[in-house]
Formats: sequence, structure tokens, C-alpha cells
Amino acid sequence: MPKKRETIEVIIEDTYNDDKNEFDKKDNKFDRKDDEFDKKDNELENEEQSEEMQEQIFTPVTELENCGINSSDIKKLLDHGFITIQSIAFTPKKVLYEIKGISEAKAEKIQSEAIKLVPTMQKFETATEIKLRRDDYLYITTGSFELNKLLGGRGIESGAITELFGEFRTGKSQLCHTLAVSCQLPIDIGGAAGGCIYIDTEGTFRPERLVDIAKRFGLEPNEVLDNVAVARAYNTDHQMNLLIQAAVMMAESRVALLVVDSVTALYRTDYSGRGELAARQMHLAKFLRGLLRLADEFGVAIVITNQVVASVDGNMFPGGGSDKKPIGGNIIAHSSTTRLYFRKGKGENRICKIYDSPCLPEGEATFSIGIGGIEDPKD
Ligand SMILES: Nc1ncnc2c1ncn2[C@@H]1O[C@H](COP(=O)(O)OP(=O)(O)OP(=O)(O)O)[C@@H](O)[C@H]1O
Ligand SMILES: [Mg+2]
Repeated sequence: MPKKRETIEVIIEDTYNDDKNEFDKKDNKFDRKDDEFDKKDNELENEEQSEEMQEQIFTPVTELENCGINSSDIKKLLDHGFITIQSIAFTPKKVLYEIKGISEAKAEKIQSEAIKLVPTMQKFETATEIKLRRDDYLYITTGSFELNKLLGGRGIESGAITELFGEFRTGKSQLCHTLAVSCQLPIDIGGAAGGCIYIDTEGTFRPERLVDIAKRFGLEPNEVLDNVAVARAYNTDHQMNLLIQAAVMMAESRVALLVVDSVTALYRTDYSGRGELAARQMHLAKFLRGLLRLADEFGVAIVITNQVVASVDGNMFPGGGSDKKPIGGNIIAHSSTTRLYFRKGKGENRICKIYDSPCLPEGEATFSIGIGGIEDPKD
């Protein structure tokens, strides 16, 4: 009876298909579980990597308790923004003397104990040792191959200050937004496996931009947003205070990048009179010293932006090729490790020129700004 046979075959096939589907579903479940484990493994690995990196770079100030400094003195240090051993070792003695409740003798003892814990302060190092350390420095991709190439191949350097200056709409803030995302990428694909602290002084920070940029780099937008801590600075004193909070965050979790966009805008409004120039420069110098200290202590990359003004004294800034010059004068010039000059190019393209660098030759690169952030130029 062929009909019956057919029916049986259909039933068998259906059962088989049902079973197969069930197995496929189970398989999928296992695959998904595997993926989850892989993801967890990756997360753990990244966390361990971050913790290891942090251990190498700085030591928390609480370590001083093992060197005979009592906990109430340590609390006073913490309250004054001394989060790490390095911050105490690097600071001039007279700053420690100013802390209420800490005598000169105690300040001497605290600093000498701190210095003992910072190996690089004990002796001269060979250039080989420094090179080995520098080989471990992380770089953050700009998103443009051409721009990375100009910067030595890998992008923005960690443990140093990079200044972006140029006229309005030249892409300074767009590069800051791009770096705030790309710094979160794993190290082997151009990131620094850490978060970003973003000090916005002009109100131009836009989380929506981070979402578009995250998608371009294949990162989960919500995770990316969670890893960027943003503070709007309202005046120059506030801008300075935010550095203390930044240091606390850097000690607590892996921060790869600190952005200050722009570093000079509030100085122009807070100190607008001619007679206030000296006070302005002193405050700015102190702020920049704070930034440098964070770069040294935590090994984070620091990116600051700066505008240009018409040069009234007729002095063109060398290599700039225009009658505009960056704000801040020598103070900024001496604090920034690498200075990059941005200007408009043809159409939507922008040009970046190395204006000053301790190790890069002078040169230019063209890039453009897209929905996904900074990218290679469009012809
Ligand atoms: N989503 C986007 N897609 C493409 N281009 C964009 C996007 N958003 C902004 N831009 C471009 O970025 C440019 C502005 O760049 P940016 O804000 O970085 O300037 P800036 O150098 O920081 O200027 P300022 O000195 O005024 O702060 C504009 O030309 C704009 O067209
Ligand atoms: Mg801007």
C-alpha cells in the first residue's frame, strides 16, 4: 500500500526534521553559550590587561602606609589630589609644605619615601632602557591611515600631550570625538583598551557623534557611551578642579585618553583685559603642568585643542604659513609634546601639518571628516 508507506515516510521525515531542528536549536544554544564564554573570556582578558597596564604605570598613595606614613596623613594627601606615589614624588617640595596639618619634616619624609618607590627617579637610565619602555607605549588610531602615517604610523601617542590647533571648522573637535571612541578599541587594532575623559569647555561635545563613530569601528554604541566621562567646564578654576577628579577616575579605572576641547577658550573670557595677561598665563601654565603630571603618572594620552588668532604683532608663526598664530604663546608651546596645525583643504578635505614634535619630521597629511569620524581624504 503505497499511500500508507508514503504517509509513514512523511511522518518519519517530519519526526526526523523535528529532531534535527531540535538538535540545531540545541547546537545554536551551545554555540551561543560558547560565544558568551568567548566574550566573557575576552572581557576578562581585557580587564586583566588593563589592570596589568595600570599596575606598571602608577602606585596608589595608600602604599605609603607600608613605609611608616600614618593613614590620617595619607587622607590629607588624597584630599589635596595626591592619588598616586608618583604625584608626590614629582611635585616640588614647597607644594607639600602648603598642605594644612603636614609639617615640613613630615613632608620631607613623605616625599623621600615616595621617591624610593619610583624606580625611574633613583638613577640615570640607559637609552636602551628608555627605548624598551617607549616600545610599550600605546598609540591611538585617528581613523585615517594618512594621518596615522604622518604621526609615525600608529596615531596619537600615550603619556604625552598632543595639541590640535587651527581655525574653526577644521576638524579639531571631530578628531577628539573620533579618538574618544578609537581609544576603546583593543590594543592590537589601534586602540588603547581604555575609556576617555572629555572636558568640554565650549559646549560642542555631542554623544550622537560617538554613536555614529562607534558603529563605524564595529563597537557597541551604548558601551562606548558608558566609557566616556564628560564634564562641561564653566570657568578656568572649574577647569582646573576637574583635573583632580580626572586623577581619581584614572586611579580607579583604566583611562586611555583625556581630551580638553578647548584648552584656551575659557582663559580668553575669564581674563579678557590686557592687564590680566600675566595672571592668565600663570593660571594656564599651572593647568598645563597638571595635564603633564597626569600624562606622566598614568601614561594616558592627552589631547588638547586650541584656536588661532590673527597675529597683531605681524609675526607669522614659523612653518604655519599664515598670519594666524595659536593662542597661549610660549606656555602652550613648552607644554605640548606634539603640536599639529589644522587647516582647510580642497572641498571637504582638511590638512594636518606637524608644527612641532620631538621625533617626527615636518610634513603634512590630508584627511576628511565623515559620518564615522576622521577618515582618509575623498578625492
Ligand atoms: N556627522 C558629520 N558628518 C560629516 N561631517 C561632519 C559631521 N559633523 C560635523 N562635521 C563637519 O565637521 C566640521 C566641524 O569640525 P569641528 O567641529 O571639528 O571644528 P573645530 O576645528 O573643532 O572648530 P572650532 O574651532 O569652531 O571648535 C564641519 O565642517 C562639519 O561639516
Ligand atoms: Mg571645536
